[in-house]
Amino acid sequence: MRIGQGYDAHRFKEGDHIILGGVRIPFDKGMAAHSDGDVLIHAICDALLGAAALGDIGKHFPDTDPDLKGVDSRILLRKVAELLTTKGYKIINIDATVVAQKPKISPHIPEMRKILGSDLNLNNDDLNIKGTTTEKMGFTGREEGIACYAACLIDSI
Ligand code: CDP
Ligand code: ZN
Repeated sequence: MRIGQGYDAHRFKEGDHIILGGVRIPFDKGMAAHSDGDVLIHAICDALLGAAALGDIGKHFPDTDPDLKGVDSRILLRKVAELLTTKGYKIINIDATVVAQKPKISPHIPEMRKILGSDLNLNNDDLNIKGTTTEKMGFTGREEGIACYAACLIDSI
């Protein structure tokens, strides 16, 4: 079995919603990003690619690519899952932590798990998502943006 870890962070910009774990969450800010700014999906992609020694999300989907402007990160996630299958790996489980002072993500976690589970063909029990603040410390605490950590385990098919 092989382990992977991923980390991502995005800055807030003006807006009225964010996309996190494929869920549209109404908020008084948006996410600044070349894509839809789904920092949770990006961290999961990096964990999966890392476990398979396939580099990172920027290698496969460069943010200089005009075709990827505003792209739905779920498309990237499904492509990452395909890459793993092609290399002969299956996902055992994923665990992710969203670091955000705001918004509160717990009400949205069941929907995130459902959406990402369907993209990755994973049972609910094999995909955990959780949220934490940093007690108002640091860039997330100052509400400048959101960070996310993800870990995964994969195995040969
Ligand atoms: O230390 P702990 O993470 O338990 O405390 P906290 O940062 O004050 O967060 C309390 C709880 O709020 C967390 O355990 C999460 O369940 C939830 N939370 C959330 O839903 N969304 C966030 N952006 C941050 C925390
Ligand atoms: Zn990102």
